[in-house]
Amino acid sequence: MAHVTATPSWAMLAYLIAGVLFILALRGLSSPATSRAGNRYGMIGMTIAMVTTLLTHGIASLPEIAGALAIGGGVGFVTARKIKMTDMPQLVAAFHSLVGLAAVLVGLAAYLNPGAFGILGADGTIEPQSRIEMGLGIAIGAITFSGSIIAFLKLAGKMSGSPILLPGRHVLNLGTLIAILGLVAYFTQDQSQWVIATITVLSFIIGFLLIIPIGGADMPVVVSMLNSYSGWAAAAMGFTLHNTAMIITGALVGSSGAILSYIMCKAMNRGFLSVIAGGFGAEAAATGGAAKEQRPWKRGSAEDAAYMMKEAENVIIIPGYGMAVSQAQHALREMGDVLKKEGVNVKYAIHPVAGRMPGHMNVLLAEANVPYDEVFELEDIQSEFAQADVAFIIGANDVVNPAAKTDKSSPIYGMPVFDVDKAKTIFFVKRSMGGVGYAGVDNDVFYMDQTMMLLADAKKMVEDIVKALAH
Ligand code: TAP
Repeated sequence: MAHVTATPSWAMLAYLIAGVLFILALRGLSSPATSRAGNRYGMIGMTIAMVTTLLTHGIASLPEIAGALAIGGGVGFVTARKIKMTDMPQLVAAFHSLVGLAAVLVGLAAYLNPGAFGILGADGTIEPQSRIEMGLGIAIGAITFSGSIIAFLKLAGKMSGSPILLPGRHVLNLGTLIAILGLVAYFTQDQSQWVIATITVLSFIIGFLLIIPIGGADMPVVVSMLNSYSGWAAAAMGFTLHNTAMIITGALVGSSGAILSYIMCKAMNRGFLSVIAGGFGAEAAATGGAAKEQRPWKRGSAEDAAYMMKEAENVIIIPGYGMAVSQAQHALREMGDVLKKEGVNVKYAIHPVAGRMPGHMNVLLAEANVPYDEVFELEDIQSEFAQADVAFIIGANDVVNPAAKTDKSSPIYGMPVFDVDKAKTIFFVKRSMGGVGYAGVDNDVFYMDQTMMLLADAKKMVEDIVKALAH
């Protein structure tokens, strides 16, 4: 590897352009209407940053860079094409683990070959400041790596999603974290191999320990938190490598991941610290999930739904995870189109944690070309349920469960939910009465006077409603 020299001014400019493109990417990704453009900005920015870094350090020639980009891009392209939308969260977790591992490897490379990274002090040892960056970067990277692997295994169903609670885990975790910080501080005095090796091993272990007690319902927050960690690890490594683009990208990823974690905690009414401390969902798992109640309920048909919605003035559609599973979004858009032609006012209500990843429903509805001005966030549509003739719940469950408002013992207590009970009529599309939502709890809405259960696969049911509307 060539020695680090002062970054040429054209490269500084290229990094600046890449940084601006990353900011535009985040800006674009904040709305479904601009997200495609946002993705493109990000891709161009990343290409500029990678080519500039590789060229200025004399690591690779242009054909080599093009070859590496083609191989990496090809793997990413095929993976993204093949992945099912419902498997996206575990893919994201798997990708985060790679970012964490990369930070660890870069840190160890810099430790083993400090001269090449330009971090040697006058006395021939690694500069103290670089030791802190390196130690923290490796620690955060290793935590991100092992934590993301556990998150991946839980989300992919390869490991139980329920919390695994070790006795004395808080003391153990806190003790290990303090030991890691202590060792990073000690590393500034003593750059022996055992110090960096112990930091690395302890951090791998703590990543594992921190995530196993966290229950499935908190996984979305964990994934975005690990996303944030991976950003901070990259930023720390950016300082070690004197790479401006890496510092900017790392800081952007770190802070946007932290903001997303905060937004999701708020959406689920969960304290950030209580998520990190883990254990959520243990009660539901321990009681075997849903209470199997025998209460009267009414079954409706596609014809009932078609008739009632045709006659309605205002219909609010609430999609959830089941819509994604059955890929009902195209049929749903068609149903909305027919209803609009009949003069019905159709709106879509999206909960911030509907589905299995942030923006899950927005992406699917956008894919089906549902107009953006018909799609509303929770706080913007909540007051309209009182005037709604029909609330059409399709594959959603937890996000409409009133237990979140009333039952203190419920695992979703405190999560803001749609006031569907205020609508005159409720249609609830799901496959069976037994199937529960993510949190594994029963839902009073099934048994309400104004509710009709439409038990079928979501796509099939909506297609039948569209047929019935044509008559
Ligand atoms: P859920 O509460 O998970 O409910 C999904 C519903 O869809 C179930 O009632 C299920 O009942 C039904 N369903 C499944 N497959 C179906 C199909 N093919 N056709 C028709 N219905 C089907 O969904 P939600 O309301 O979207 O809530 C999201 C939950 O996931 C929240 O608890 C949230 O915290 C959690 N979570 C969210 C995220 C993010 S960031 N969005 C990530 C991970 C977890 P049947 O089995 O009877 O059909």
